[in-house]
Amino acid sequence: MLRTAVLVSGGGTNLQAIIDGVRDGQITNTELVKVISNKAGVKALERAEKAGIPTAVVSKKGYASIEEFNDALLSAIDDASPDLIVLAGFLVVLPEKLVKKYSNKIINIHPSLIPSFCGVGYYGLRVHEEALKRGVKVTGATVHFVDEGCDSGPIILQKAVEIQQDDTPEILQKRVMEQAEWKIMPKAIDLIANGRVTVVDRKVKVDLR
Ligand code: GRF
Repeated sequence: MLRTAVLVSGGGTNLQAIIDGVRDGQITNTELVKVISNKAGVKALERAEKAGIPTAVVSKKGYASIEEFNDALLSAIDDASPDLIVLAGFLVVLPEKLVKKYSNKIINIHPSLIPSFCGVGYYGLRVHEEALKRGVKVTGATVHFVDEGCDSGPIILQKAVEIQQDDTPEILQKRVMEQAEWKIMPKAIDLIANGRVTVVDRKVKVDLR
C-alpha cells in the first residue's frame, strides 16, 4: 500500500477526486494516511474528516518565523511516514529540505499544459486569465514531480482541454478541473502506487501496458 499524504489549502476538489478514486477502486494499492492544510477551516479539511482521514493544520500564523513553520510542516509530514506526498492546491512554497528529503515522492497538479502558463505567480485564476489573454485554443492540466524549481519537475501526465469562444477565467477553470485535473491526478497516483512510473534523466517513463 502506498502511504499517501495530501497537502491542501482550499476547496479540495482534487482531494475529493482522490478520495472518490480510492473508494471506487480507480486508485488501487493506496492508503490516504493524512491531509495537511496550511489554513484552518477550509472545505478540504471537511472533506478529509468526512472520509475518515486524519487531518492536521500547520499555519504560518502559528509560528514566529518561516523556518519554524517549515520545520513544523516537515514534522507533520514525517509523522505520517508517507511514500507519496500529493500537493492538491497547496499554496505554499515547499522548503528545500522537504523537496530534497522526498525527492521524486512529491507530486503536484498544475492547471495548464506545462511549460505554458506556469512558474512563479502562475496559480489559481491567473493561469486561466493568461491563457485567455494569449488566445490559445487548447489548455489543460499537468501532474508532475516536484523539484527545487517552480513547476519545473518531471512531467507524469498531461491532459488537454479545448478553450471555447466565450470562456471566462472562471468557466475555463471549472472545465480544466472537470475534464483534466480530476482525471489525471487520481490516475497518476494509481500508476505510482502500482510501480508503473519511473524517473530516468529527469524524465518520466510511464508503463502504460
Ligand atoms: C487547482 O486548480 C489545482 O490545479 C491548483 O489549485 C487548484 C486547487 O483546487 N494547483 P482544489 O482545492 O483541489 O479544489
